[in-house]
Amino acid sequence: MNKIKIAPSLLAADFGNLQRDVEMVNQSNADWHHIDVMDGMFVPNISYGMPVIKAIAKHATKPLDVHLMIVDPDRYIETFAHLGADVLSVHYEACTHLHRTLQAIKAAGMKTGVALNPHTNISLLEDTIKDIDLVCVMGVNPGFGGQSFIENTYRKIQALRAMIRSNGAHTLIEVDGGVTDTNAKKLVDSGADVLVTGSYVFSAPEPLAAIARISEIANG
Ligand code: DX5
Ligand code: ZN
Repeated sequence: MNKIKIAPSLLAADFGNLQRDVEMVNQSNADWHHIDVMDGMFVPNISYGMPVIKAIAKHATKPLDVHLMIVDPDRYIETFAHLGADVLSVHYEACTHLHRTLQAIKAAGMKTGVALNPHTNISLLEDTIKDIDLVCVMGVNPGFGGQSFIENTYRKIQALRAMIRSNGAHTLIEVDGGVTDTNAKKLVDSGADVLVTGSYVFSAPEPLAAIARISEIANG
């Protein structure tokens, strides 16, 4: 089996010590840096924008997994490619022409990601699944870190895993929101390939140890 990837979400980092926290992730056995972009429109919160992401990218040594929680994400595809995003996820609910958006992300040289809100059925991706490198299944309503995990997410991941298989696709399943050491194993058993984790890591007394622990649990 492939290694289950751990992607610490920098939304929960100490922004006064961002370089330190990015370097902590560099030194850890995490796999990706997860970067949450919020516009105050698609979600009721604003996180950080281009200058901050540029600073993160300058220090980060692992792939950048960028999660756009913004309306009309097509406007910024090129910008995120220039900033160094490796995976660019847009929300299904924010795209009128998802197929076109996915082609544009690919053409800009990035892996394609689609995030689903808790209410969005996985079947809506059946016609584009072969163009999607990663589906980000939200375990909470997007907008904030530190929320509690929605239990229906396990069922969604299982259904998505079956749908990916039956279509002969190679899409990775990422789960984002409310992921901790207590649900990591069940998420992996349900079919998750990538675990995003914010407050679990950054509110731990020893973030490096927290990353090691969740990676160990996930990889059993
Ligand atoms: C939520 C963000 C998540 C968030 C995860 O809108 O997309 O990536 O930072 O944080 P935790 O792990 O604290 O739920
Ligand atoms: Zn996220």
